Amino acid sequence: MEVSEAIKTRRSIRHYKPDCVPEEKINAVLEAARWAPSWKNTQCRRFVTVQDEEKKAKLAETLTSWNPARSAIKEAPVVIVACAELGQSGFIDGKSITDKGSWWYMFDVALATQNLALAAHSLGLGTVHVGAFDAQKVAQILHVPQGVDVVVMTPLGYPEKEAKASSRKELSELVFRESYS
Ligand SMILES: Cc1cc2nc3c(=O)[nH]c(=O)nc-3n(C[C@H](O)[C@H](O)[C@H](O)COP(=O)(O)O)c2cc1C
Repeated sequence: MEVSEAIKTRRSIRHYKPDCVPEEKINAVLEAARWAPSWKNTQCRRFVTVQDEEKKAKLAETLTSWNPARSAIKEAPVVIVACAELGQSGFIDGKSITDKGSWWYMFDVALATQNLALAAHSLGLGTVHVGAFDAQKVAQILHVPQGVDVVVMTPLGYPEKEAKASSRKELSELVFRESYS
């Protein structure tokens, strides 16, 4: 699939078929995440793949009660939890060098997980970035060590049906020429 087509046609998928995802496809989406750029190429991202039914059910419980992706975490055959090793992104020689402090790891994880989402879409798989959950609880369930932050998770599987396109603001609302105001 051509990149611009993948960017425009990817949708958040919240309902999945139970069909297994072949290991090669799981590896292909993780490979796309691996190749995303990162702060000074520090590559702080780490991924936990979960296929165990009980564990997926526990992960689903960590989502906010209103979260529309709650059932997707249980239903999808695979869940990928993206984490970051702290103290690398945003730092040079151990010192944070911008006004964003250590938060650059969020940027690095976002780049990787969007690569993953686009690669999944190109393979006929669905994803949804899930951010509204209790990251501390997920860290406990998955035995994530100190110094590693759980950032985002996504179900991965075959979409049950096509998702409706969501709207986007017009470029005229987003883009300023030469200065912001
Ligand atoms: C940082 C981030 C966090 C998100 N968290 C959730 C979430 O917790 N639950 C959910 O159902 N969707 C979540 N989404 C998905 C957005 O709602 C979705 O991307 C947006 O509505 C646009 O729809 P589209 O992805 O189909 O284009 C999140 C997206 C991003 C980028």
